[in-house]
Amino acid sequence: MIRTGSRGRMAGPREGLLVLTLAALLLAACGGAPQTGVANPNQGAQPAASGGGPGDVNNGRQLFQSKGCIACHVAPGVPGASGTIGPNLTGIASTTRRRELAGAIPNTPENLRRWVQDPQSVKPGTMMPKLGLSDKEADDIVALLETFK
Ligand code: HEC
Repeated sequence: MIRTGSRGRMAGPREGLLVLTLAALLLAACGGAPQTGVANPNQGAQPAASGGGPGDVNNGRQLFQSKGCIACHVAPGVPGASGTIGPNLTGIASTTRRRELAGAIPNTPENLRRWVQDPQSVKPGTMMPKLGLSDKEADDIVALLETFK
């Protein structure tokens, strides 16, 4: 590409705006906090704030981001969780507010685990995809979901 004059060297007003927009999008995608899949070195020291299950809430939160749940669900306290394809998961651990999961099975921790590991086996034809979670990953995600009161 041939560029002439000073405009070729400095970002013009249009490019400047584009860069700003991209930066804003990136910030929004990260929820403003630099949370990545990289383990936080302090993490092991924090007690798991779960409902007593075997899972690790902090790891569950990272999986909720890395496995793509955030693309489809709003979830409290998870940066970037703003998807609207699936239901808002706020209150999913409150069985008085959510008696059933996906309108199909009773809302219990066991069923929550079955659901996140294989939604199709629970409710054939559901729009939620199977995300190939290992048993450990499912435990961690359920531990996180159990904090969504
Ligand atoms: C492609 C979009 C998509 C992705 C990705 C996705 N879900 Fe869902 N999820 C849905 C939809 C749609 C439903 C509603 C299913 C139904 O009612 O048949 C749902 C339902 C649920 C429910 C039950 C909600 C209720 O109110 O009963 C839970 C819990 C849930 N998802 C958790 C997760 C978790 C955890 C992940 C990541 C491992 C995830 N979802 C990934 C789309 C998605």
